[in-house]
Amino acid sequence: VSSTRAFFGTRAASWDDRFPDDGPAFTRAVAELSPPYGGVALDVGCGTGRALPALRGAVGPRGLAVGLDLTPEMLAGAAARGRADAGRLVLADALRLPVRSGCADSVLAAGLIPHLPDPVAGLRELARATAPGGRLALFHPIGRRALAARHGSVPSDDDVRAPGRLPGALAAAGWRLVSLDDGDERYLALAARIGTSA
Ligand SMILES: C[S@@+](CC[C@H](N)C(=O)[O-])C[C@H]1O[C@@H](n2cnc3c(N)ncnc32)[C@H](O)[C@@H]1O
Repeated sequence: VSSTRAFFGTRAASWDDRFPDDGPAFTRAVAELSPPYGGVALDVGCGTGRALPALRGAVGPRGLAVGLDLTPEMLAGAAARGRADAGRLVLADALRLPVRSGCADSVLAAGLIPHLPDPVAGLRELARATAPGGRLALFHPIGRRALAARHGSVPSDDDVRAPGRLPGALAAAGWRLVSLDDGDERYLALAARIGTSA
């Protein structure tokens, strides 16, 4: 927790300025996640809330959009940009979400998974929060290769997001992979929550 907060805390103020052209990619990813009108959408690891306006637009005024993040400075950045108007902002750990089981219809996790110490445990917690049939989007507005290059590395086949690992990791956590765009332009994995309503 402390190392994540230290890393992102110093980056929060300039986060949106560092990646000024990502807006359309977020809008498109949220459209493909397709949150139901009037439903509950969570943005876990929301950062400065870049996806919240699109999530709010999808769920409409009677729906609920919630951005959750571990780093207070990121949430402060979201509030400073007026994104609390689009969604509630909650300080929370993705591995222990302060929400009822099955409350969410849609979950977005943009750039979150590589920062979790146990990504499958994270996917399992996202599944716990999601109603059967609900949907998950694992998203990066750039491709995995370009993202790895930013950190001076190359994508690994061991990465839970890699095509060879993702279906099994999702299945172990309660999800079924629906589609995967692991291209040069972006990363978008869409999954559906396995199970039936009680
Ligand atoms: C790469 S940033 C992405 C932020 C935002 N989703 C975006 O795309 O602009 C990753 C975010 O995940 C948050 N994060 C990392 N570990 C977390 C955890 N265990 N629980 C909640 N948020 C976490 C960080 O604080 C950071 O804001």
